[in-house]
Amino acid sequence: MGKIWSYTESSIKMSPHMLLILLLSLISADTVWCQPNCSFQNLLQSLNLANASKVRPVRNWKNTSIVNIDMTLYTIVDLDMSMQSATTFVWFYMAWRDEYISWKPDDFCGITQLFVNSDYFWKPDLYIYEMTENDDKSPQIPYYILRSNGQIVNAMPLRIISTCNLDIFKFPFDNQTCKLSFGSYVYTVSDIVMWPKSNSSVVNQNAQNVFASKDEWVLQSVAVYNTTYKTMDMKYSQVVYSIYIKRVAIVYVLNLIIPACFLVFLDIASMFIHNYENRLDFKITVVLGFSVLLLILNALLPNSDNTPMLGIFFCICLAMMVLSIIGTVGTSYMTVTESSISNSQVPAWVKILVLKHLAHIMFFKKDSAKDELVTPVTADNDPENAKTSEATEDVSDEKRPLENESNVKTEVKLLKRILLEILRIHRKLILDLQQKDAMTEWSLVAQIVDRLILVLYLITVTLVFVIMLCVWAI
Ligand SMILES: *[C@@H]1O[C@H](CO)[C@@H](O)[C@H](O)[C@H]1NC(C)=O
Ligand SMILES: *[C@@H]1O[C@H](CO)[C@@H](O)[C@H](O)[C@H]1NC(C)=O
Repeated sequence: MGKIWSYTESSIKMSPHMLLILLLSLISADTVWCQPNCSFQNLLQSLNLANASKVRPVRNWKNTSIVNIDMTLYTIVDLDMSMQSATTFVWFYMAWRDEYISWKPDDFCGITQLFVNSDYFWKPDLYIYEMTENDDKSPQIPYYILRSNGQIVNAMPLRIISTCNLDIFKFPFDNQTCKLSFGSYVYTVSDIVMWPKSNSSVVNQNAQNVFASKDEWVLQSVAVYNTTYKTMDMKYSQVVYSIYIKRVAIVYVLNLIIPACFLVFLDIASMFIHNYENRLDFKITVVLGFSVLLLILNALLPNSDNTPMLGIFFCICLAMMVLSIIGTVGTSYMTVTESSISNSQVPAWVKILVLKHLAHIMFFKKDSAKDELVTPVTADNDPENAKTSEATEDVSDEKRPLENESNVKTEVKLLKRILLEILRIHRKLILDLQQKDAMTEWSLVAQIVDRLILVLYLITVTLVFVIMLCVWAI
């Protein structure tokens, strides 16, 4: 002012023209005085954030700060089954009130909110309880919104890596629930209360609108609720978001389940190959193919305590394959080694157990015609044999008789010789048949055991498959 006065004192000597210029400049100075109130800069200066409190901004310490929280699920980046962790990408919103920050919008050309990049004011210490890794890949948005009523809004995208207990019993037809609990780590419920900004239906609708499915998961729904987490004597307020997702199973059905079923069918079908050696080769090849599928399944699943139904099914199928291979080895041993090489008879207990009871249970029909042919002949074998030996001696000792009788006698002799020959053939035939009988008995035992394994195989695989379908359907 003093300067102006001195200015005007010196200008007294000047013309009135100069006075007019001075007046004009004073008017313009007045307008310059008004303009700074419209800039953010000015508002920021008047808020004096540099001195704003760094403690919880309430005028009475007993007042709790209410933190409003909102989350929109954007996508599930990854759900690692073996690590049991979920990587989600969310749009996060958090708002609270600073009782020391406020202004009248009319004083600042109607500015109602201010975007400010500031570390000066207090912020709630947000903590995600399920988080396992501090993620550096979250985009950093350093701006806060200050509203004229003291509300501070922090909105930012978050990439969250959290634990998610996966229940894979129904894999690959499983639904999973992953939770994200937002709360304060140090402030108890008497200091900070976390409160969901929108109710479940709104949160769900928002998520459904923006959800981008990148992986094998389809979003079922998102729910939100408010809870208090209790430790020994502390209580912490939390807002929990439950994300329900469902696996897209078609890939696993096409790449894992259907090939496995085909291989099992193939293995069952191979039970109808009659040559046991060929069957053995075939079965080993099928088991090899099956073990490749087992490897794939193993790589997918976590080493957790709950085994998926599919794994149990695979295991039982493999067990049945191995059992049928062992059965085939046994039957091939019976038919080849026991019957034709060592030429032994079927033990009595095997006869009773397998040929009688098991054959009956398995509805196994013996070739009855063959059976009847063999047994009666062996029965009356011995007495006739004795008779024929007598006959041979008689024939050899006898001398030539008279001519009349000689014709008759030569005929008789001839007939006896023919009979002898027939009897010898008969005896040989019986011996052969006995041998064959042992062989057929062994092969019969082998066939019955084979059928037993086939039936067991079919029943077990069908049962487990039906149980698995039931588990999946529930
Ligand atoms: C808490 O804050 C509100 C609003 O600022 C005020 O009305 C109230 O008196 C404060 N104190 C308590 C104990 O609620
Ligand atoms: C959820 O909030 C919306 C809007 O705020 C409201 O229209 C709706 O009725 C609420 N739903 C429930 C179940 O409270």
